[in-house]
Amino acid sequence: VLSHLPRVLVDLRSDTVTKPTAAMRRAMADAEVGDDVLDGDPTARRLEARVAEMLGKEAALFFPTGTMANQTAIWQLSAPGTEILLDADSHIVQYELGAAAAFSGVQIRVARGDGPIMDAQALRATLRPPSKHLPRPTLLCLENTHAGAGGKITPLAELMAMRAIADEEGMRVHLDGARLWNAAAAAETSLANFGRCADTVMVSFSKGLGGPAGAALAGIEDLIESARLARRRFGGGMRQSGILAAGALYGLEHNLDRLVDDHRNAAEFAALVDGAGGACVIPPDTNIVMIDLPGHLDAAVTADRIAEHGVLIAPWTRTRLRAVTHLDVGSEEVSRAADVVRAILERTE
Ligand SMILES: Cc1ncc(COP(=O)(O)O)c(C=O)c1O
Repeated sequence: VLSHLPRVLVDLRSDTVTKPTAAMRRAMADAEVGDDVLDGDPTARRLEARVAEMLGKEAALFFPTGTMANQTAIWQLSAPGTEILLDADSHIVQYELGAAAAFSGVQIRVARGDGPIMDAQALRATLRPPSKHLPRPTLLCLENTHAGAGGKITPLAELMAMRAIADEEGMRVHLDGARLWNAAAAAETSLANFGRCADTVMVSFSKGLGGPAGAALAGIEDLIESARLARRRFGGGMRQSGILAAGALYGLEHNLDRLVDDHRNAAEFAALVDGAGGACVIPPDTNIVMIDLPGHLDAAVTADRIAEHGVLIAPWTRTRLRAVTHLDVGSEEVSRAADVVRAILERTE
């Protein structure tokens, strides 16, 4: 079957692989800029005002990466020697190189529910009665959509239930909303509505929106003002940051409404691959498709075999592959990629 399939080059490893288009690059080249550490960059300011408004927060701050924005929120909202609570598979726990411990001196305590993501019930079960023998919980970090769970959406009601528990316990709340754009588009809920569950919200411009780099952290004015100092301390004071901010603004202007196309492509990919050679696909909520392989297949070896046919997907665990749809792949490429994946999975030798 494979020899009859046209060779394609489709990179579905992540939605971070998108490259700025000529139009986005033009907007970046034309951006009005200033020294953002000295006296402000006008384009970064414009982006920050826009994001704050979209998220229903008083202020926002532009960051070079989502990781730095997450870590700044942890620095701001926790205290050394206390614990922060998170879903066991959240990006902050799994993919930020222990930064919360290294920079903010906090202990991470993970919650695992019956479902794919921490919910209010799991959070309650993880919390312990206050005791002089235990670290005090100071911060709850949520993630929506949840990347590690396959772009899953936690509904607003569940987020608000977790916020209510955090309030009872005297904990602050940070939302890692790297892909909150996707959650809002798929759930047909406003970003500001989701923003209500947290004191600080991080959003990323370098994923579904197609920007080259950057993220923002939004919250109340005082907090964002002190986050500006923390950002500087972490080495994130950027000078003519308007060049990057212009890419993000372009993404907000042109690429927000089309996220539903990525979701449709992911659903189509999932339907085409599900069941192939015994693989089981988790039905996607948004743009991330997780493929669970039958026990005899190794994910890294399978990804290499698929790559030989021009389709790149990521080995996620030893038995799970991850494919992500994005701006740089159209529905035809996605379905051709699915044909390749399907054929490889069905190959028995
Ligand atoms: C859920 C989530 N949070 C945070 C980040 C970190 O963003 P960055 O790569 O800009 O540091 C990512 C990036 O992949 C992510 O998927």
